[in-house]
Amino acid sequence: MATLNLRNIRKSYGPVETIKGVDLDIADQEFVVFVGPSGCGKSTLLRMIAGLEEITSGDLMIDGKRVNDVGPADRGLAMVFQSYALYPHMTVRNNMAFALKLAGVPKEERDRKVDEAARILQLGPYLDRTPKELSGGQRQRVAIGRSIVRNPRVFLFDEPLSNLDAALRGQMRIELARLHEELAATMVYVTHDQVEAMTMADKIVVLQSGVVEQVGSPLELYHHPANLFVGGFIGSPRMNMLPGRIAHVDRTGVAVDVAGGARIVVPAESTNVAAGNPVTLGIRPEAMRPEPAGQLAGEVLLAERLGGLTLLHVTLTDGQVVVVQLEGSDSTRPHQPVRLLVDGEACHVFNEAGRALPHLERHPLAA
Ligand SMILES: Nc1ncnc2c1ncn2[C@@H]1O[C@H](COP(=O)(O)OP(=O)(O)OP(=O)(O)O)[C@@H](O)[C@H]1O
Ligand SMILES: [Mg+2]
Repeated sequence: MATLNLRNIRKSYGPVETIKGVDLDIADQEFVVFVGPSGCGKSTLLRMIAGLEEITSGDLMIDGKRVNDVGPADRGLAMVFQSYALYPHMTVRNNMAFALKLAGVPKEERDRKVDEAARILQLGPYLDRTPKELSGGQRQRVAIGRSIVRNPRVFLFDEPLSNLDAALRGQMRIELARLHEELAATMVYVTHDQVEAMTMADKIVVLQSGVVEQVGSPLELYHHPANLFVGGFIGSPRMNMLPGRIAHVDRTGVAVDVAGGARIVVPAESTNVAAGNPVTLGIRPEAMRPEPAGQLAGEVLLAERLGGLTLLHVTLTDGQVVVVQLEGSDSTRPHQPVRLLVDGEACHVFNEAGRALPHLERHPLAA
């Protein structure tokens, strides 16, 4: 049982403020993922939770108790880093048992805990090997095993899979999700990887320059980004962002004029915008498809065929390139003129300040 509450947490290195007042509630057994560009403060925030960085101001609570001044060893947390230095001369068993041995845990109990961790991580066959006799993924599991045996209330992971190749990452992703379920522990996980964030998180925290931009479930962030930054950050390939202007607004939504005179109608709340306002229209790559009656005109620049998917790069009449994601192997060729039909219901409108206009609950014209 472990909840985490961050209240106006700040971190300064000298005169430079790196974390600028973070408020966050993490529920018991929740899997929370921190994402954001390099240098935005993900590791710093995680290290402050771990007790490895001093908190400049604000309150950090674990299970309702303020722990700002509690040392890392007494917070009941375990942290797994990207570089998981194992002791090279020790067996897997001894690597996992080492911290328990230092803590004076009797051998019988150490063995029981290591055997249990090895079962959960499927490391049983490797307990007598040394790290150099293991694959990268197996080593990573030993590093996680070291934290499991300590029975932490909260697991903290800082890009633990970034040293692994794509196939191993995929496998470890599934194992971590299973581990989360089996241990029923609270987990906080930092990653650069969109797929990891989207598939593992109960809740994603998007950070930029030490500020929380949005917190929500993966699909909330995907379908209802609060602002331009989150819209552009969550989702791969990225959301296409077209500069435009509000043509008119009414109860059914807003009409936006974009490149080449195209008009896209989006069922979004129009209370805070008026005709003539500059806006940005956000279109996910899968919210467009080639269609003779499409609103946008352009020319195919490049078709990336990935087998199950095709990414069509299209140059619009104003020179901007958009990416369209199609199912299957599309046969479109470069330099071909093309029109794109945009699904306005799936589009996002961001005002001049970059805030998203909330979607109307339901399109009034929909059945
Ligand atoms: N000890 C330090 N002294 C001064 N500045 C620091 C220190 N540690 C980190 N920073 C700065 O704080 C900011 C946040 O760093 P942090 O490591 O938290 O970023 P991050 O989001 O984890 O980035 P990455 O994705 O590259 O790992 C960066 O601008 C970094 O340069
Ligand atoms: Mg980092």
